[in-house]
Amino acid sequence: MPTVDLYDSAYGNYEEDVYRQIRIATYGEDFGQTSWVTNDESSEIPQLLAVTPNSHTLEIGCGSGRYALQIAETTGCSIVGLDVNEAGIRNAKALVNARGLSGRVFFEHCDASEGLPFRHASFDAAFANDVICHIPRRLSLLLEVFRVLKPLGRLLFSDALVIGGAISHEEIATRSSIGYYLFTPPGHNEELIRKAGFRLLRVSDTTANTTRIAMRWRDARDSRRDELIAVEGEPNFDGLQQFLSCVCALNSERRLLRYVYLAEKDPVPVGD
Ligand SMILES: C[S@@+](CC[C@H](N)C(=O)[O-])C[C@H]1O[C@@H](n2cnc3c(N)ncnc32)[C@H](O)[C@@H]1O
Repeated sequence: MPTVDLYDSAYGNYEEDVYRQIRIATYGEDFGQTSWVTNDESSEIPQLLAVTPNSHTLEIGCGSGRYALQIAETTGCSIVGLDVNEAGIRNAKALVNARGLSGRVFFEHCDASEGLPFRHASFDAAFANDVICHIPRRLSLLLEVFRVLKPLGRLLFSDALVIGGAISHEEIATRSSIGYYLFTPPGHNEELIRKAGFRLLRVSDTTANTTRIAMRWRDARDSRRDELIAVEGEPNFDGLQQFLSCVCALNSERRLLRYVYLAEKDPVPVGD
């Protein structure tokens, strides 16, 4: 199956009206999303992470950068956003300059699977919205997040690729058509969170929200088919529609599940 582009076109065309309209039709409010995060979830994240104006926050896989800016603007915190996608980081840096927040909002191009380029205990909070599924060696990443968080620092991440039932090889291929993905069994994230030294505070099942977002995203794109084909080309448009339909089917039947995990850096070293 050919690889379908999602992120280059979403971030490279961030300012295009048709992409903005699709984000609004899908999520209600435009935070530059390419994820399954609802607005309710977006507004809850800073509270769950206990972000204050004094917090230094890390977003792994910040995409367009718009949501990191939202957190900085609404809480007064400082924030660093990382992403491996160059178009995303370019867009994020342009947004920071336009909003005059360059003193406390920073974006860096970074492949988080290669480690986090920060000193020990640099951050009060870290989060990754629908990113961790793209990153190999998940335990190494969680150990890196543990390292860069201060004691009692909080981590929130979502994973939309927890296996809930039988999935065919064609469905796995379509669901993975946009790049590297790691599918894991229930309980795997909980185990890795503990192994990395975190204390698990909360797990929420947001599978039904994912179905709703995928459906709205697919329908919003369908109703702007010609405009999108002019930008993305027909094969990519069709590939993304199949990807979104596959998400709708797998999640509505709970064969794939999405969970949001909230954890805290246990000040007691692992093994004690
Ligand atoms: C589903 S999108 C979510 C983007 C954003 N968090 C949001 O909520 O809209 C996943 C993001 O993870 C980024 N990503 C994938 N692999 C990565 C890696 N190894 N290091 C850093 N970012 C990565 C992608 O470029 C993409 O922007």
